[in-house]
Amino acid sequence: MPEFRNTVVVGSQWGDEGKAKVIDVLAEDADVVIRFQGGANAGHTVVVGDQEFVFHLIPSAIMRPGKICIVGNGVVLDPIQLLKEIEEVEGRGFIVRGRLWIAENTQIVMPWHIVLDKAKEAKAGSQAIGTTGRGIGPAYIDKVARSGIRACDLLDEKALLAAVERILVEKNLILEKIYGIEALDGAKIAAEYFALGKRLREFLTNVPLLLEKAGAAGKTLLFEGAQGTILDVDHGTYPYVTSSNTVAGSACCGSGVGPTVIKEVVGVVKAYTTRVGNGPFPTELNDEMGEKIRQMGGEFGATTGRPRRCGWFDAMVVKKAVRVNGITGLAITKMDVLDDLEELKVCIGYKLDGVEIEDLPTQIVDLDRVEPIFESLPGWKTSTKNARSWEEIAAPARSYLERLSELVGVPITLVSVGPRRDQSIRLR
Ligand code: GDP
Ligand code: IMO
Ligand code: MG
Repeated sequence: MPEFRNTVVVGSQWGDEGKAKVIDVLAEDADVVIRFQGGANAGHTVVVGDQEFVFHLIPSAIMRPGKICIVGNGVVLDPIQLLKEIEEVEGRGFIVRGRLWIAENTQIVMPWHIVLDKAKEAKAGSQAIGTTGRGIGPAYIDKVARSGIRACDLLDEKALLAAVERILVEKNLILEKIYGIEALDGAKIAAEYFALGKRLREFLTNVPLLLEKAGAAGKTLLFEGAQGTILDVDHGTYPYVTSSNTVAGSACCGSGVGPTVIKEVVGVVKAYTTRVGNGPFPTELNDEMGEKIRQMGGEFGATTGRPRRCGWFDAMVVKKAVRVNGITGLAITKMDVLDDLEELKVCIGYKLDGVEIEDLPTQIVDLDRVEPIFESLPGWKTSTKNARSWEEIAAPARSYLERLSELVGVPITLVSVGPRRDQSIRLR
């Protein structure tokens, strides 16, 4: 295995590709693991032995003793959720204090963000995005509008109360007049969040400085993306996207390092495709095969429990991810889910109005009506779950993997054949 270099791990489809598992595996070789965008909309599952964890905010390397875990400034942080997660991890015997750090300037998800996220979705009816209801969109809106509250702002009781009351003048008008929801009590919220700030204080630090010192000491960095490329607010299927940049470039802004720090970008892809929430999905299977993959893959959301929509692997989607992230290696997950199939299909191109096109159309109405061009590949009808080397993977499964890699033009660096840490084959 070559020496580990600073790496960003991103989702290359619509999220839930198995990023957390890949982070847990790669973290063996890294020193510091950093979340840089998204928030508790993420549901990142790590399985080690018989222990399963679903992380929403804590980096997925916390189960690796000694690794430093960081929540960067690009995240929108729900302190209630984070403290709950810390308790859970500590309750299972892992050391968190002294290993977990939060950027002082991280934006806080406040109660009005969650109320507004849910109210807006409810009002949108059939036009709803299908958000996770974690207040993500409203929190990023306020960050950009310069009316957010940052982690460090929770520490000054008087200033916090003043800020909350000032912000609520507008928020309460929106809640009452637009959504018919009862106004929020500023004094109560400020007191609650000041108390949360006191509990967060020991984790807050100057993250760019910490990362600079780590780099100077020869430590290696692993950046943990959340969501997926096609949920990126700029490059995804807008407006059916999340409210952050999910692509690798976001790792810099969301943590406070420069682009020259990053040496590798690992794109995590499922051996098929899934999506939760609304929006176009050209290779979706609305039939028995889709249901079969959902059941075999346990495709139910880790954050909301919603059934995930399932479909064939889409090379157009992953080629876009390669382009906008600069992916240098693929981590292909959930190969074992396809073990039983006679035949597999892979989308190798799209036609729009009978003409082949090079990329996903920018208008979702057009993406909704593209005709995928499929190629069929034979199934392998044998279990890959116990394969621990490339040679131990059945030959037709290897051909399938090689074809995916060839279609998107990037070598495979990891194959995952089950949820557990040991069900991983590292290549190159
Ligand atoms: P993330 O959001 O990208 O971290 O992915 P999720 O945790 O939301 O969803 C991935 C799901 O697939 C989790 O339940 C993982 O435990 C599971 N998983 C990851 N890799 C594999 C694999 O290779 N095979 C199987 N069967 N499950 C996997
Ligand atoms: P991980 O990190 C899959 C989807 C939601 C919805 C859209 C907007 O586990 O891969 P939001 O709450 O972000 O405003 O919802 O984005 N979504 C995800 N889908 N995996 C995720 O995270 C997601 N986070 C958000 O379902 O369609
Ligand atoms: Mg997930």
